[in-house]
Amino acid sequence: MIDQFKRDINYIRISVTDRCNLACVYCMPKDGAVFLPKSEILTFEEIIRLCRCFARLGIKHVKITGGEPLVSKDIISLVGEMKRLEGISRVTLTTNGALLMEHLPGLIEAGLDGVNISLDTLTSDRYKEITRRDCFHQVYSAIEEAVKYNELQVKINCVPMADTSKEDIKGLAGLARRNRLSVRFIEMMPIGLGRNYTFCKEEELRALITHTYGEMTPISSAKGGGPANYYSLPGFVGSIGFISAMSHKFCNECNRIRLTADGYLKTCLQYEKGWDLKSILRRETSDVTLERAIALGIYGKPDGHSFHTPQYPEYYEQEYMSQIGG
Ligand code: GTP
Ligand code: 5AD
Ligand code: SF4
Repeated sequence: MIDQFKRDINYIRISVTDRCNLACVYCMPKDGAVFLPKSEILTFEEIIRLCRCFARLGIKHVKITGGEPLVSKDIISLVGEMKRLEGISRVTLTTNGALLMEHLPGLIEAGLDGVNISLDTLTSDRYKEITRRDCFHQVYSAIEEAVKYNELQVKINCVPMADTSKEDIKGLAGLARRNRLSVRFIEMMPIGLGRNYTFCKEEELRALITHTYGEMTPISSAKGGGPANYYSLPGFVGSIGFISAMSHKFCNECNRIRLTADGYLKTCLQYEKGWDLKSILRRETSDVTLERAIALGIYGKPDGHSFHTPQYPEYYEQEYMSQIGG
């Protein structure tokens, strides 16, 4: 479907839960977030029904997010059902990786096309500092295992902070040298607790990576449906990517909407709580009514974020990233 700014909206990020088994400092408060009651969370049947509506409106790519999607029961059968939906050609998942190892065979069997794994450091101590949990080795082993499946596209997400070491940046980028994966560096966005941190600028990271590994060449074919720009490096099997919402705003190319775990259609990462699809869904309305509400929401999608207008603090997204799903 085309929105009011003539963008083709063909990608949805579906948060299946607001719960997470980690508590990253930029995403969750120290004492944990207040989680939604189970009755407020969409059931898998409701999600599938909505997906059928989304597909009829032109959505082709589903990204499953959380919180942490792998803490949800039946996630593997959800992936399988989504893959069977007419019109949905790609189903991918973004995870912190802590529970990935045991889910990998099932996810592959269900037809998952890609997995994005969050990893901000290569040292166990720093990992513990950032995530407040001790599972660096589980995540690292899951990455090593994931790249063994040729049919699975693997991406690493790193959100560097002011105190992230150069060694970590170089080491994380270096994972793409011998492994068939993309390492993406993400500029911290002022969403939820992310507001307490300064983002690391793409240009500075690029200078460090180029100095360490050599000239970076843009790979325009690798852009895919997401906001990342990718580069190849001499002798690298994988690639390096940047998601730079702060220094290189990409909203004019935005192709996505979001469904929150409690059933709100959120048409931009920032601003509104969204459109309450769950209430419509639970009133036993027809799919036509649902699709009309979704289409209205999509058409009215804002032109972009306003992270750079601190004079309007009320625009700042107050929810934690774990409640939105990234
Ligand atoms: P694929 O490349 O399709 O796998 O998707 P992706 O890179 O968008 O997914 P992922 O869940 O790995 O998100 C990576 C980062 O991009 C996270 O920090 C997201 O919050 C951010 N992101 C994803 N979509 C958007 C968007 O539409 N706008 C902004 N500003 N950030 C986004
Ligand atoms: N800005 C940018 N990325 C963020 N993530 C979490 N919070 C932020 C933020 N404020 C990232 C996570 C994960 C992805 C889904 O979003 O690190 O990789
Ligand atoms: Fe969990 Fe992801 Fe948030 Fe970290 S960034 S607390 S892994 S939802």
